[in-house]
Amino acid sequence: MHYTARAHTNIALLKYWGKVDEALITPTTTSISLTLDEFYTDTTVWFDKSLQSDQLILDGETISGSAAQKVSRFLDVVREMADINDKAYVVSNNHVPTAAGLASSASAFAALAGAASKAAGLNLSVTELSRLARHGSGSATRSIFGGFAKWVPGDDRTSFATPIFEKVDWPIQLLTVVINDQPKKIGSRLGMQHAKNTAPFYDMWVRLANSQVNDMILAIQQHDIVKLGELAEANALQMHAMNTTSVPSFNYLTDKSWQVIMIAQELREQGIPVYATMDAGPNVKLISRPEDTFIIKKELANIVTSSQIIIASPGPGIKVTSGDK
Ligand code: PMV
Repeated sequence: MHYTARAHTNIALLKYWGKVDEALITPTTTSISLTLDEFYTDTTVWFDKSLQSDQLILDGETISGSAAQKVSRFLDVVREMADINDKAYVVSNNHVPTAAGLASSASAFAALAGAASKAAGLNLSVTELSRLARHGSGSATRSIFGGFAKWVPGDDRTSFATPIFEKVDWPIQLLTVVINDQPKKIGSRLGMQHAKNTAPFYDMWVRLANSQVNDMILAIQQHDIVKLGELAEANALQMHAMNTTSVPSFNYLTDKSWQVIMIAQELREQGIPVYATMDAGPNVKLISRPEDTFIIKKELANIVTSSQIIIASPGPGIKVTSGDK
């Protein structure tokens, strides 16, 4: 029997930027995210006794090298949990445009956790799935759930995500401005490690980020896009400021990124709630209301083309289905 899981990616409103345990992927801070409808990964897994090694087919191509090794290491965790030795086929299709600069690792490892655990004969709860997805990628921990989710620090057993509100019935969207679709020079794993090890303000960032959690949850509960956006933008800028103060300094944002951040500020001066957040890359994601799309696009038209804009709404949690291969 094979199992297929669909998981959506998410954007962190309060970022995860640093691990306590590099191997277990436990975070230094609580992070809060919004799962997105537009971007997802479908992954099918089946175990096969006759296989000599795991086979990974990603978007129609057989993959080897470090990406395949990462998937095999993740499957080892599943095999250990299920007490099996068989190798597996993993067929994965990404519906996260690489150009969007949104972490496809979040949806990829959440979907892999869902499909592989079922195919291995495990029947995990969503909490157990979230904990398992964490072994693949930190942000995947949150992609098990729809809507708003929270991932807390802890040990291997206690660090997992929980939903805040899975069904988002108020107007909020994420308008992504694609500035550069090239793979980033410093991946998130190295970037956060370097910041944690060398940024003089890292401890301060941890304290600040953790102090923003309750206010962010309150803003979500109150459907308060102004409070939510203010906190998300401040948190993102604090993360990026920390990167520039690392030794040696590094930086993901470009002049274009700053132009978009300034446009958000100008729109706010006109009373339109638009807030910027950026991950480990130059692309800027604007937290906004669907009703303001036209005016936001009009302002952005001076610096980017319409094909550089991708809009996503809140999305659902993981779904696993079964079938014959
Ligand atoms: O899960 P990773 O290793 O792709 O790291 C994600 C890091 C950020 O996207 C910058 C923040 C986050 O919480 O998603």
